[in-house]
Amino acid sequence: MDNETDFKITNFYYEEAPNSNAPFEIPRFNGFLAEKKFLSKEESSLLYKSFLEKEVLIKKEISQNLESKFSNFILNGYRFYDYFSLFNDSDSKKLNTRIQNELKILAKIFDFKLKEESMHSWLNILRKGEYVPKHCHILENKPSLSYVIFLNDSETTFNLEIPHFYKTSKEGELNHFPEYLVRPNMGQMIAFPSWMFHSTKFHTEEDKRVSLAGTIKLF
Ligand SMILES: [Fe+2]
Repeated sequence: MDNETDFKITNFYYEEAPNSNAPFEIPRFNGFLAEKKFLSKEESSLLYKSFLEKEVLIKKEISQNLESKFSNFILNGYRFYDYFSLFNDSDSKKLNTRIQNELKILAKIFDFKLKEESMHSWLNILRKGEYVPKHCHILENKPSLSYVIFLNDSETTFNLEIPHFYKTSKEGELNHFPEYLVRPNMGQMIAFPSWMFHSTKFHTEEDKRVSLAGTIKLF
């Protein structure tokens, strides 16, 4: 398999932070973002349509599982169900396997061990005026890996926060480099360690911004 080379991996190594003249000790953590083209344009637009059709069913499922006292607090509750349990037709199963295969490749690169049966996936659908607030995914205090597959092009970036990562400017100043922005491309997949905080900016386009996302536990 030469798939290993398909991922473009951006490492955020703490070693890149300067042994600086900072007047304080800098806490440092590693992180990364992996990106690749995952679905063709045709596959993406078919899934985009089918995800929007499935939205009604998903909302029904969420409202059944969440008490109203909780659902009243939730603007975007798409994470409160498991996509591949709810939709287990043969196309969905194939998609699930393809995603897991990509995550296996990444796991090999980073020497992670995936707990495949723990993968939890959901849809994110952003309408004009909505956004995803900053959050991370921690499953039962275990390290985990998150992925997102973008189903359409959008200017509404995915913002990955890189905590405690510093860069020196040309002028020699120490700057916090807090976010790495990804502009969604149709069919693109990204993956990153689940402890990294992420968010989107406000969605201002008429077209809904649709992505499939998930998290898988590591041993
Ligand atoms: Fe997330």
